[in-house]
Amino acid sequence: MRRIFFNEVVTRDGFQNEPAFVPTEAKQVLIDELSACGYAKIEVTSFTSARAIPMLRDADELMASIRRVPGVEYTVLVPNLRGAERALAARADELNLVMSTSETHNLANLRMPREKSFAALRDVIAMARGRAAVNVSLSTCFGCPMEGDVPRDEVLRWAGRFAEQGVRGLTICDTTGMAHPGQVAVVARALRERFGGLQLTLHFHNTRGMGLANVLAAVQEGVDRFDGSLGGLGGCPYAPGATGNVCSEDAIHMLHAMGFDTGIDLRRLLAAARALPKIVGHDVPGQLAKAGLVTDLHEAPSNVPELR
Ligand code: COA
Ligand code: ZN
Repeated sequence: MRRIFFNEVVTRDGFQNEPAFVPTEAKQVLIDELSACGYAKIEVTSFTSARAIPMLRDADELMASIRRVPGVEYTVLVPNLRGAERALAARADELNLVMSTSETHNLANLRMPREKSFAALRDVIAMARGRAAVNVSLSTCFGCPMEGDVPRDEVLRWAGRFAEQGVRGLTICDTTGMAHPGQVAVVARALRERFGGLQLTLHFHNTRGMGLANVLAAVQEGVDRFDGSLGGLGGCPYAPGATGNVCSEDAIHMLHAMGFDTGIDLRRLLAAARALPKIVGHDVPGQLAKAGLVTDLHEAPSNVPELR
């Protein structure tokens, strides 16, 4: 059975975009529960400026409070050197560095040109060597909500520059749900040809309803790592109209139905997903939590025998 690895991003990509601050203890309880569900990785939080991302201002405290389950990697988003110092002090297993392949989005999100981001992240990579694994998430790889098309060669060029720096992994992000399955297949093939030796992860948003189709297109090209967000929460605060990530439990359910192994206890995950609306105070987009598993059958209505 082919194995697919999931990185759960709800407490980072999900909660960064929530209108109300989720209390640290609620985040900790949720992460501890997700740790027991069988994820390969959990993106706990981000070490960004509290002014830029106020909802994740408790990153240091949260990292100190979670239970570390052996076999699960705890990763954190890092935009600059200051963030890397905090992440290393918090004993993150992995630093997930972030920059955009679109100049305009990088200026909006990180308040600096791409070259300046790259120079800062290169210093972070050097600093983390021997202390934590490094992954680089490249935003807007399938289109920028402000610039439009981001050429595939531009994505490959930035990926290549980071690969030269010796990073362990690359995450190719569809930050605002602009990707379609045909495009995903082409990009995934090119990435696997060039960077087959790296951990390659795809990060999709379901902004236009193409999230699951994009996951499938990537799986068919041999990609085996995905980011997902419980309940389909998520979004970039610096991208107009951004909405949730691919919903973890919906994607995992689809892959299990197709015979893939994700290592995840789907029933336990579903229970966590059903508890999520109470944590955030509103309904969430995920569909499996509403419908149940395809194997959860319903009793026939009482009048059915009489109709035979
Ligand atoms: N952690 C904590 N504080 C930080 C920080 C970090 N990683 N980086 C910067 N700061 C603080 C500085 O100390 C400074 O504080 P002060 O005003 O009290 O002195 C303030 O933030 C501004 O610092 P500066 O270096 O001028 O940064 P900036 O204002 O240009 O912002 C980023 C740059 C990258 C820190 C900021 O844009 C950011 O955190 N963006 C987050 C992007 C993000 O996570 N997006 C969603 C996910 S893709
Ligand atoms: Zn995202």
